[in-house]
Formats: sequence, structure tokens, C-alpha cells
Amino acid sequence: MSSPKEVLRQNLKMIHGYPMVYAFTINWERIERFQSRPDDIVISTYPKSGTTWISEIVDMILNNGDIEKCKRDVITARVAMLEMSAPGLRLSGVEELEQMRPPRLVKTHLPIDLLPKSFWENNCKMIYMARNAKDVMVSYYHFDLMNNLHPYPGPWEEYLKKFMTGDVAYGSWFNHVKTWWKKKEEHPILFLFYEDMKKNPKGEIQKVSSFLGKSLSDEIVDKIIYHTSFEVMKDNPLVNYTHLPTAVMDHSKSPFMRKGITGDWKNYFTVEENEKFEAFYKKEMSDTTLQFCTEI
Ligand code: A3P
Repeated sequence: MSSPKEVLRQNLKMIHGYPMVYAFTINWERIERFQSRPDDIVISTYPKSGTTWISEIVDMILNNGDIEKCKRDVITARVAMLEMSAPGLRLSGVEELEQMRPPRLVKTHLPIDLLPKSFWENNCKMIYMARNAKDVMVSYYHFDLMNNLHPYPGPWEEYLKKFMTGDVAYGSWFNHVKTWWKKKEEHPILFLFYEDMKKNPKGEIQKVSSFLGKSLSDEIVDKIIYHTSFEVMKDNPLVNYTHLPTAVMDHSKSPFMRKGITGDWKNYFTVEENEKFEAFYKKEMSDTTLQFCTEI
């Protein structure tokens, strides 16, 4: 493992055409060689789309809403991030997964092209959560301020350009959401939206339960809604990422659990920026049926 100094605030490194967090690129073969199990459940997202939220929901569903069972460990150990690797961490994502009892919950932000082949070969179930681009960008900007594994975001105006051209970790949001959306035509992928989960958590949690072959009572679903609400998760040290070393995530710059709302982009985009973004968005999304809502 490298020393923290060698990996913190480094430029992104290209992996098969995708800009990747530098620390994760070290020994990338470990990802390519990763062996899945048919009962693995993959939770995939573009960064800042509600990954932690859906991860906690899935763990709660699999544990029939038993809060005590969900307190067995921090979220990064219950739902391990496949590509994670950083100095000071107890285990890398792959090592974490190798120790996990089935069914393993695998978190990843990898684009379709970079996901280890083994997941497709084993026909693993996948849950993809998407969030509207403008709120993702605002959230990502703040995350890049506090997450020292990523490069500095720089000024907001420049970040806007970087986000649009995909010069951020994991590349273009547009490519990510569109290719995962398309992939669901040939693979068991439950495609969810952050905004739907905000609007109708009951319906969405029931959708996830039935995808996972579970039938939960109304009482359990209500318990899950409460336990996974933004307010409760923000104060839960097992899921709010305060367990990571400050050298990696510095919550004094911006908390991981920041606002948890839809439409915060309105507080950041100028009218001109919004017009520019919308024009670009229209072009990029002209070849997909995928549609997002940006306010609720
Ligand atoms: P904001 O920065 O807009 O607040 P990820 O887990 O993919 O990194 O996404 C983080 C984003 O999801 C952050 O968005 C965070 O606040 C939000 N989030 C986390 N838990 C949430 C919850 N229970 N309800 C709503 N939003 C949540």
C-alpha cells in the first residue's frame, strides 16, 4: 500500500479510457480478476447519486428491518466498495468482499465497461440508482472539496466544464447513466431514481424488496423509511462516513451527509450556466429514452 502523501489530491489516472481516482488505480488487476458469486448483489451508481442511502435500504431489507443487525458494522464493511483502496484503510474493497458472508453486497461506481466480467457471467442481480445531473454535480463539487482521494474541484465555473466533459472521477455522468439504462434490456438490473425514492420511499422500497425476492410487512417498510431518512442517517456514525480518517474525508470542508434534497442546484447554477448546461444536456441525452426530474 502506498503512503497517504503519494495518493492524496493526485490527478485522476486513465483506466481503459475512464478517469479514475488515483489511489484506486494501483494494482487495478485486482478489479479485473475479481470473481463474483451468483448470489452477489451489486449496487451501482454514478458518484453522489444516493449510493449510501440505497445501500442502507438494501441491507435493512435483507435483514427484515432489524436495526440491531444493521448496526453490526460500518456501511463500508456491510456494503463493500469494489474498487476502494486507500492508505490507512483496514482492508481494500476486494479484501473486504473476500471476507464477507453471502449474499455479498457489492458497491461500485464503475461504468459498464470497467465492471469485472465475472458479474455479467454469473448474471448477478444489480440495483442502479440514478440522480439528476445538476444535483449530482453540486453534490460532487462539495464531495471533491472534502474527499482528499479526489483532485481539488477548483472554482465552481471550471468544475461545471469539467463535469460536462466528464473530466471527473469515473468520467461522464451522461455516458454512465445512459449505458446502465441500456444494459437493463439484457441483464437483471433494477433501475431506480433518487428523486422517486424521495417522493415515494414506500413504493420504491417495496420495488427493491420484490426485486430481491423479499416480502415485507407495512410495519417493517415504515421502520426502514424512518431508519434511512436523511435526518437519521446524517446522525448515524455507521453510515455518515465519519468513521474514515480525516486525512481521507474532511467533514469540516463539507459534510458527507450534506443536504439530501432535490433541487439544490438552483442555489448554485447561475441563469446563464443553467442555459448552457441545458443546451449541452439536450444534445447528450438525445439518443436515450432516459428521463430525469430536477425538482419535486
Ligand atoms: P447531497 O450532497 O446533495 O446532500 P453517495 O452516497 O452516492 O455518495 O451520495 C451522497 C448524496 O446522497 C449526498 O447528497 C447525501 O447527502 C445524499 N444522501 C445520503 N443519504 C441520504 C438519505 N437518507 N436521503 C436523502 N439523501 C441522502
